[in-house]
Order: sequence, then C-alpha cells, then structure tokens
Amino acid sequence: METLTKSAYEELIEEVRRVHHITSVRSLLGWDQRTHMPRKAVKFRAMQYAALTEYAYNFITSDRFVSLLERAESEGYAEGSRESMNLYWLRRTYEKTVKVPLDLTLRLIRKTTETEVIWREAKAKDRPDLVLPHLKEIVELEREKAAYLGYESEPYDALLDGYEPGLKAEHVERTFSLLKEETVKLLNRVKEARESGRVPETIRGRFPVEDQRRFHLFLLRSIGYDLEAGRLDETTHPFAVRITPGDVRITTRYKEDDVTDGIFSTLHEMGHALYEMGVPEEWFGEPVGSTSSLSVHESQSRFWENVIGRSPEFWERFYPYLQAFFPSLYDVSVEGFLFAVNDMKPSFIRIEADELTYNLHIILRFELERDLINGRLNVEDLPEAWNQKFREMFGITPPTYRQGFLQDIHWFSGSFGYFPTYAFGNVIAAQIRNSMGKDVDIPSAVRSGDFGVILGWLREKIHRHGSLYRPMDLVRRATGEDPNPAYLVDYLREKVERFYG
Ligand code: CO
Repeated sequence: METLTKSAYEELIEEVRRVHHITSVRSLLGWDQRTHMPRKAVKFRAMQYAALTEYAYNFITSDRFVSLLERAESEGYAEGSRESMNLYWLRRTYEKTVKVPLDLTLRLIRKTTETEVIWREAKAKDRPDLVLPHLKEIVELEREKAAYLGYESEPYDALLDGYEPGLKAEHVERTFSLLKEETVKLLNRVKEARESGRVPETIRGRFPVEDQRRFHLFLLRSIGYDLEAGRLDETTHPFAVRITPGDVRITTRYKEDDVTDGIFSTLHEMGHALYEMGVPEEWFGEPVGSTSSLSVHESQSRFWENVIGRSPEFWERFYPYLQAFFPSLYDVSVEGFLFAVNDMKPSFIRIEADELTYNLHIILRFELERDLINGRLNVEDLPEAWNQKFREMFGITPPTYRQGFLQDIHWFSGSFGYFPTYAFGNVIAAQIRNSMGKDVDIPSAVRSGDFGVILGWLREKIHRHGSLYRPMDLVRRATGEDPNPAYLVDYLREKVERFYG
C-alpha cells in the first residue's frame, strides 16, 4: 500500500538528500585540489566552492526549508529516533547558518583559499611577513563570525562548538591541565633515561617508494580496509575523505630514508576511513549518516595508528613481513624496531611528534588560538609568543618559523577551535582501549591477525551509529563515561615504563 501524501519529514529529507548529493561534490573537489590539481586552477576552484556553499546556504535559509522543518518538528517523532536526530542536526545547522551573514561566510572562504597559497610560499621561504597581514584579516573575520554565532563566556567557545558540538574552552582547559602536568612529568623521566643512554637505535636504509606502497597496501588489506571502496594516493599532508559511502579515499606520504613515517600516516588515515566506511550507507545524505564529531573521528585514527599500530603485538605479527619487503631490516631486532617507533623526545614538528609530546603541541596551540580569538594576543606577536611558549613547555626553541608557527595549515585556512579535537581524540582512543579490553583480548587478537574482532567492536559501539547520538553521548554509551584523560595518562605511563623504565 502506498500512501498518497508524504509527511513533512519525508519531503524534507528527500530534499536534504538531493542537496547533499550536489554539495558533497565538494569532497571530490577537495581531494582533487590536494592531489592532482594544477596550481593555476586555484582561483576558479575557489569560485566553484563558493558557488556550492551559496547553493547550500540558499537552500537552508529558504522559506520552503524553514516551513518543512517546522512542520516536521511538529509531527512528534520519538526522542532519540533517527527522525528526531535528523531534525535536531538540521535545526542546529539552520541556526548556525542564519546567524552568520552569507557575505561574511563567502569572504572567509575567499580569504582562506587565497591565504593557503600564500602560506605555502611563506613557509617555503620562512618569511612570516608574507602571510601575517593575511592571517590578521582571517582572525578578524573569525572574531566577527564568533560574535554573530554568540557565546556565553568567551568568543572562542563559538568557534570550538563548530568542530566539537557542546565543548567549552573551560572544559578543554581542565582536561589539558591534568594532561599537561602528567605529560611534563613523564617527559622528564624520559629525558633522564635518555641522558643515561637509553636511546633507540636509528633505523637507516633506503626504502624504495614503490615497495613502501606495496607494503602499505598489504597492511590495509590485512586489517580490513576495502580497496574496492577506496584508494591510496600520495600527498605531503596525508588525509582521508569520504566522497560517498562506496568511495572513501586516503593519502599517505613516503620518505625514501624512513620506512616508518609513512606506515603510521597510512594507519592513521585508515582509521578515519574505516570509520567512514562503517556508517550505514542507507543513511547517506541525512544528517545522521555522517560520522560524529572531530574528536570521535580522531579517536578512530589514533586508535589504529597508536594503540594498535605501535603495540608490541602488531610488530610481532608484521615485522617479519616488513623485513621480507626490506631485507636491510634483518639487521634490526623486532624489539629494536619497536623501541624506535615508540621513541619519545621533544621535537618541533607536531605531525612528527611522538605519542607523549604530541599532546603538548596541541595544548600550546590551544592556548595561543584561544588568546588570538579572545583578543588577548595580537597576530603580530604570534611568532614570538609561539617560540616563548615552546621554550617553556619543551625546553627548546624553534630555529626557524617553518618549524614554529608556520608549520600547520589550520589557522591559515581559518580553522580556529580545531586543534583541541586532536588531543581529545587521543583521550578517547585510550578510553576505548580500556573499554574494548573488557570485551576483547586485544593483544592476542592483534598477534593472531584477527582484526575483525577489533573492527567489529568499533563498528558495533561507534561506527554504525553515525550521528544518531550527540558526540559526548556516543562516547558515554561506548565507554561508560565522559572523556577522561586518566586513561591516556595510564597508557602513556605504561609505555614510558616499558621503554624507558
Ligand atoms: Co586525523
């Protein structure tokens, strides 16, 4: 039997899906921009993005959308149902969209697209002066945006909420203060051990890129990434992107003289991709058909990269294969290799940092960007403020700006409030390890290559829910509590004791 009239909800979702099919093309444009796009395409590509953004904006602010949303909301769907959560996210998007004038949104897109290119040049030439005036404009636009979005205690909260719904700077500060305190203590233990000679051997050799690529593909297949629903390409800054449910792509990088760097990039992006692949495909185009927040996303990548990928069992299993791919590694024992990939020490570059110091890099960025957005730090003073804070936390000073505040693209592409989600991802990953460990013998599953049981747990507790729950509700359902840095601290302490004990 077919009903003759559709509910307002059905009509709404049908349109939302149609619009999503058009605007989601942005992911493919983004993938292209970062992999194969010629440099001179940038100006018109920016216009294409702007047109798609305007299209989405016009839809979501149209009278038709608003009236369908209101009518659907009055149809009375049960709390927690797929329908009511779709309506919740649509309402949220609508509120966020109408608060910020379209003109400001478009100015931000144009400004950041242009600045990304200038940032690349400034970084290559180590010339802050080239990009600081542009960054200043971006910070002003972001502050304007925060004012339109509104906030209770500080402007920064308005931006943070865009990446991590519901999270407040004050909560981040509390989480980070415990993490900072414990990390610095552990780092001091590591420094002492290193001074007394406890340092891993460096893995040297030439590792042909084509062989690395083959090994990465072998790893991906062994763990369960479906290469018929994705692909692996090479970029300087690795990333994962879902184009559609049947097409979740990852990129990695290869260094001829370093075999491990690329492996962990691939495992990281694979973690993101497995998450995207695990969301029910019949929800595609609906708000609940998206993965949860950035912190939850990062917990998935960090889980595979670190909790699994840097564990002794992982290399008990895969080191013989790695040696077969790269026979020069027969000179290095598995324990030597394991220590090398768990090496901990202060370093300048966030994306090359170890598990222990990584969070300090994030805490530094959080403190600075919070001050920039709250108007307590001028952009002109940023390079020096960075170096000073770095000295305080790590005990070393970046010799170039490229190794300092110019290293990451985030601020230059207008992503303020994004950084904390990386460290929250680590916090949640360690918490997941603790919960999963009650149901699954993780070490023996990894040792025997039974990744299905691990992936199965993640699918069951996290992936298959998409955005059916608010991010922190999802974390609570999966692990029984709010993000709690204590599990990460315990995990890091275990590692420090194992390798530097
Ligand atoms: Co990531």
